[in-house]
Amino acid sequence: MLKIKNLYYSYPDGHAALNGVNLELKRGERLALVGANGSGKSTLLLHIAGALAAQRGEIILNNKLINANNINLLREAAGLIFQEPDDQLFMPSVLEDLCFGLIANNIDAKVAKSRAVEMLNNLNIAHLAERPPHKLSGGEKRMAALAGILVMNPEILILDEPSAALDPKARRTVINTLNNLTHQAILLATHDLDMALDVCERAIILNNGQVAASGKLPELLQDESLLIQNGLELPLRYFNHQR
Ligand SMILES: Nc1ncnc2c1ncn2[C@@H]1O[C@H](COP(=O)(O)OP(=O)(O)O)[C@@H](O)[C@H]1O
Ligand SMILES: [Mg+2]
Repeated sequence: MLKIKNLYYSYPDGHAALNGVNLELKRGERLALVGANGSGKSTLLLHIAGALAAQRGEIILNNKLINANNINLLREAAGLIFQEPDDQLFMPSVLEDLCFGLIANNIDAKVAKSRAVEMLNNLNIAHLAERPPHKLSGGEKRMAALAGILVMNPEILILDEPSAALDPKARRTVINTLNNLTHQAILLATHDLDMALDVCERAIILNNGQVAASGKLPELLQDESLLIQNGLELPLRYFNHQR
C-alpha cells in the first residue's frame, strides 16, 4: 500500500535527518518504527502524513507516486497523532474538536456530530465530550487526539511516541485501543519497545536517518547487540534482572 524508496531530507539549517530510507507498509499491517532520539522517526512520519515533501527519493501510495500535485492523497490516507497532543487539540471541547476535521472535509454538521459521538463511545471516552481539551490529563488528551484522527477513518494510523508521559494505566488503555482496531495499518514510532511488542508484528530500526535493521517481532527486539548498536536496550520483558 505504501512504499518509500531512498528518501532523503535535510532541514533548512542543513541538518540531514533522513539519509536514504526504504520501507514498505502493507494494507492493515502494524509496523513499529524504533530508534534512539534523533534517529529520524518524527521526520519520516511527517513525510508519510504529507506534512513534509520528499526532497529526494519516492513516496508511493497505492501505486501512485506522490508529488506536489497529489500530496492530498497522502493527507487523506494517513492520520498522524502528534507526540504532543496540545499541538493537535485546539477547539473549546473534545466533541467540537472531533467535528472540526469532519466539517472541514465537507461533512454535514449533523452527520459529523453523530460520527463524533459514536467514536467517543467506541473509545469509552464519551464522558470527555464537553470537556475543554487543555484541561484533560495526559492520558485523556492522548485518547482525545486518537479519537480525533480515527473519526476521519484513515487507512494508515501514524502515532509519534504515543506512550510518552503516560502512566501505566493510560498507556495500557492506548495499547488496548490500538489492538481493538480492525482495518487500519498502524505505523508506531516509539522507543517504548514493550509497547511495540504489544501492538506490532514487524519493526524497523532507524539509526541516523537510515534503516539499520528490519524484521518480525518479537525476534528483532530480542537481539541485544543489535539494539545496543542502535542506541536502544532490550525491552523490559527480556531484561535479565539477575545480572
Ligand atoms: N526543525 C528542525 N531543524 C533542524 N534539525 C532538526 C529539526 N527537527 C529535527 N531535526 C534533526 O533531525 C534529526 C532527526 O530528528 P527527528 O526526526 O525528530 O528524530 P526522532 O523523532 O527519531 O527523535 C535530529 O538530528 C534532529 O536534531
Ligand atoms: Mg520524534
